[in-house]
Amino acid sequence: MESNEKVPYVLTGKSHTAVAVNAAAKAGEWIKSRLGAYGRLSTKSSEQDLVTEIDKGAEQMIRRLILTHFPDHAILGEEGVEPGEDAPERALREAEEEEYLWIIDPIDGTTNFVHGFPFYSVSIALAKNGEVVLGVIYDPSRDEMFVAEKNKGAYVHGARMNVSGEQRLSEGLIAVGFPADPAVKLPINLRGIEALAPKARSLRAGGSAALHLANVAAGRLSGYCEVGLNVWDVAAGALLVAESGGQVTDTAGTPYHLGVRHIAATNGALHTELLNVLKEADATGF
Ligand code: IPD
Ligand code: CA
Ligand code: CA
Repeated sequence: MESNEKVPYVLTGKSHTAVAVNAAAKAGEWIKSRLGAYGRLSTKSSEQDLVTEIDKGAEQMIRRLILTHFPDHAILGEEGVEPGEDAPERALREAEEEEYLWIIDPIDGTTNFVHGFPFYSVSIALAKNGEVVLGVIYDPSRDEMFVAEKNKGAYVHGARMNVSGEQRLSEGLIAVGFPADPAVKLPINLRGIEALAPKARSLRAGGSAALHLANVAAGRLSGYCEVGLNVWDVAAGALLVAESGGQVTDTAGTPYHLGVRHIAATNGALHTELLNVLKEADATGF
């Protein structure tokens, strides 16, 4: 195989990783084929919180593929949970004790998908006894499959990933988010954005938490922070960043665990500086 040729990502066999990669690839290809043809558009918790039939169909497809191979495993998927503040946390509390728990965001970046902006992803994580052991994120637009297994490193199409080397925030390209909750989460994030913008080299808000994390892992972003996410937005990406040598905590500095909803993920070197800026701006969400 030529050195610049991509490693095929359709695997055979029944390993957890093979099943996750196949499910992400299949769902991602289908999602991409429906770009601009998503049928009915509905809203969830707010006017800005969108969902389409494609989100629901992709989650069904992924669930079926996982359960075909692992019928005893539990699944927590975004489209299986009531929208709003409490239901996701309740669902996580109920599922957290499972030996094997799959955590799915069928389309992370639905708003982008709806507009045809090519920055959205499929995110699939597997937690074993409450700890993420596998993370797979697929970017259909760039045909990039990001895969991390606990203690085995993180890869994009077979190439080992490493976080970037910037030492200071002033050298860093930092991703941020505009969550679909204009009343509570948006103002907190805006305080952080206002404080970070003059200190970082620049900020980006791509609109997919999972892809931001995958790009931190790949060394293309120096860091990412956002307040008010859900477990399915970050579970796979948190492992990708950690296995690429980065640091993942909540915005107060507690190491990542499944309950983290206010995330800070960086190359490690500028982590403390980023957390301090959020703290000073009262933008941690705590
Ligand atoms: C959203 C995206 C977005 C982030 C929002 C998430 P969805 O997920 O990750 O980047 O800012 O907070 O809800 O709704 O597209 O799956
Ligand atoms: Ca999401
Ligand atoms: Ca989603």
